Amino acid sequence: MTRTPLIAPSILAADFARLGEECRAIEAAGADWVHIDVMDGHFVPNITIGPDVVKALKPHVSIPFDVHLMIAPADPYVEAFAKAGADLISVHPESGPHLSRTLQLIRSLGCKAGVVFNPSTSPAVLESIMDQVDLILVMSVNPGFGGQKFMTSQLAKIRRLREMINATGRDIHLEVDGGVTPETAPLCLEAGASALVAGTAVFKGGASAYAANITALRGG
Ligand code: DX5
Ligand code: ZN
Repeated sequence: MTRTPLIAPSILAADFARLGEECRAIEAAGADWVHIDVMDGHFVPNITIGPDVVKALKPHVSIPFDVHLMIAPADPYVEAFAKAGADLISVHPESGPHLSRTLQLIRSLGCKAGVVFNPSTSPAVLESIMDQVDLILVMSVNPGFGGQKFMTSQLAKIRRLREMINATGRDIHLEVDGGVTPETAPLCLEAGASALVAGTAVFKGGASAYAANITALRGG
């Protein structure tokens, strides 16, 4: 079964000097979520944005903020991102020793809790804590940078996670992040994804192109 996928533009590819305007433009163009890539220069080799920027962007749009934490440790910063306006917060299992506790913390702050899979991370990490997860994010590139090539090796993992989600009977989001384009999006959807992150493919061509870029990701 394929449904119309949720589209979450990654503002990593937006014009950082005009982030508020860029968020308004993607909302107007039909985006479902704003994907916010938080990097610390330690867990991944790049530094991006922190909670104060998230807080400043929040009043600009009404669509949910999908915050992808690529920081270690993550726990000390979860509350700051929740208070700044995050609606969904996702963490990498490798960012701390107690994934279950981190997911509890995220939910206790009123946010949806997500787990992110690096290309080398096995789905097994979720087997005994599926009840604590609202979102699963599969990286189809190594995290840290936008504009990388989609790794088709991750499609089997998307399929496996779709089976695990279906077995729960719960409507857990299955999101794919990295190198998603109109060419690779159908592969993700066929494998069972329900949400797609895209930076380069949404923000190319300037604001007048955003609506067409999002439509192309949904399959035209
Ligand atoms: C990578 C980030 C992605 C990235 C996607 O670490 O998590 O969200 O910005 O960018 P594109 O769509 O350009 O691959
Ligand atoms: Zn991301």
